[in-house]
Amino acid sequence: MSKRNIIVDTDPGHDDAIAIMLLLAHQEQFNILGFVTVAGNQTSDKVTTNMLKISELTRCAAPVVRGSLKPLTRELETGAEAHGISGMDGPDLPFPTRLPLDMDSIEFLYSTIMEAREKVTIVALGPLTNIAKLLLAHPEIKGNIEEISLMGGGINKGNKTATAEFNIYVDPEAAEIVYSSGIPIIMSGLDVTEKANIYPSDWEDLHTKGIASRFTASLLDFYAKYAKEHGFEGSSLHDPCATAYLIDPTLFEGTFYSVHIETKGELTRGMTVADKRSFAQAPLNVKVLTDIDRQRFIQLVRDSILTLDSQLK
Ligand code: RIB
Ligand code: CA
Repeated sequence: MSKRNIIVDTDPGHDDAIAIMLLLAHQEQFNILGFVTVAGNQTSDKVTTNMLKISELTRCAAPVVRGSLKPLTRELETGAEAHGISGMDGPDLPFPTRLPLDMDSIEFLYSTIMEAREKVTIVALGPLTNIAKLLLAHPEIKGNIEEISLMGGGINKGNKTATAEFNIYVDPEAAEIVYSSGIPIIMSGLDVTEKANIYPSDWEDLHTKGIASRFTASLLDFYAKYAKEHGFEGSSLHDPCATAYLIDPTLFEGTFYSVHIETKGELTRGMTVADKRSFAQAPLNVKVLTDIDRQRFIQLVRDSILTLDSQLK
């Protein structure tokens, strides 16, 4: 079976880093064509530096390209409260020596996808600004995109607001462009990611193991502080759901819905509105993941990190 072509759009981000390491541990399944950063968890400078740090630590050869500095029309609101000043507080990594590829991100996305011999799957782990810009500039690209596996939204609640999840909230206009594109979307929204919880007993031993394990443990030590401050026992591994689905979809259950994004509301800005009516007529554009086998998911995370340890020896 040929490998799946992958491009990752990301705002690292503690959970982004773990999601990316899951892909890197399964390169027998994936051709990773590159990483494009998007402002979200932190500013573009910071998330790009974080992506270069991840790239350097994992010795990944795929290019890193700096993407959008802000949403399509709105001002940037970051996720510093959960990810810290650097956007990836906790791990003590050296400033990266690698540089981003000196290329416009939309041009990189377009040329990489068009030149690939087989369709490309986009993994979107932050606000959807870059993907929306690509679709606006090159609508013909849709035919070369297999699907989009994204972390975002939630058809029952939000986390940034009562109704909106952070990634969609930051750039709702971009999200609606992507959700109405007709490209198949697998949505790892809060409905499933808030069940994808990891507990200290799941990772504490990683402090004593290899390079990837120690990095992961220090990410989760910091990430768990935010969860604890908000009264949660476990920490939700949001972004890793979007990559774990591509590695092993049997970990998940989901339902197809017509889903579109509220861009005009005040209380509902960025809400992912699913039409759950039995007589809904609109195209079922999104597979909304709704359940996860948490034990097997955590085992996949652990096994992947330990695999990376052995690759980095
Ligand atoms: O709401 C969770 C999402 O917001 C994740 O992608 C996390 O990295 C942050 O970007
Ligand atoms: Ca993210």
